[in-house]
Amino acid sequence: MKFCNTVTLECVDSTNEYIKSLPVYSCVRALAQTAGRGRLGRSFISPAGGLYFSVKIPNPCLRSLVTEAAAVAVASCIPGSGIKWPNDIILNGKKVCGILCASNSENMDIIIGIGINVVCAPIEGSACTGGSADGLFKRVICALEHTLTLTEEGKREELLGLYRPLLLTVGIPVTVTSCGKSISGTAKGVDDDGALLVLCGGRVYHISSGEATLSKPADGMHGR
Ligand code: BTN
Repeated sequence: MKFCNTVTLECVDSTNEYIKSLPVYSCVRALAQTAGRGRLGRSFISPAGGLYFSVKIPNPCLRSLVTEAAAVAVASCIPGSGIKWPNDIILNGKKVCGILCASNSENMDIIIGIGINVVCAPIEGSACTGGSADGLFKRVICALEHTLTLTEEGKREELLGLYRPLLLTVGIPVTVTSCGKSISGTAKGVDDDGALLVLCGGRVYHISSGEATLSKPADGMHGR
């Protein structure tokens, strides 16, 4: 997999919107966004200095693991970070990066939008990486090309083998909200489709999408 068509814009509403009309394997980066979008209808504050970009890929054979592939790529480029299920990147207990995957209703293409706080933490409870956004961009694109190739080639075990050690949502009490319902229990890791396993009342539930609240802070991967 190669992102050969890269566009860099000074400012745009949302790179996830802008890329919609572009072909697969495009990459759009913006130096700032005026209407950055987050998961669950939230906004993503995107001041200058951060790293905001989207890529578009054709339907891969491991479609359910694309968001995990993106999370692995980013976390592997931010030393000391880990993944809060399904795909928030956490550094020192705070969110440093958000990932928003969207699919097109007309075809099965997937848009992956990645926003990383680099020079500042724009909201309370967020963190920033420091360093250069340009350097980080190059490293994340390279890592993304690798992990998305695994989804294209059906290399499930290899991808999960990268994801699971980075997952912070494991062995701890969690509350997961999905489709308006909440379940509280102990996170046990993820199944082979990336669904979170939650042990509750002696039963293991497989939660394929939603928002996890940790009962103790996910404080990164100290000592890695
Ligand atoms: C989240 O944490 O809720 C997901 C945030 C995703 C933000 C990125 S920034 C680049 C791309 N363009 C957007 O409008 N959103 C994503």
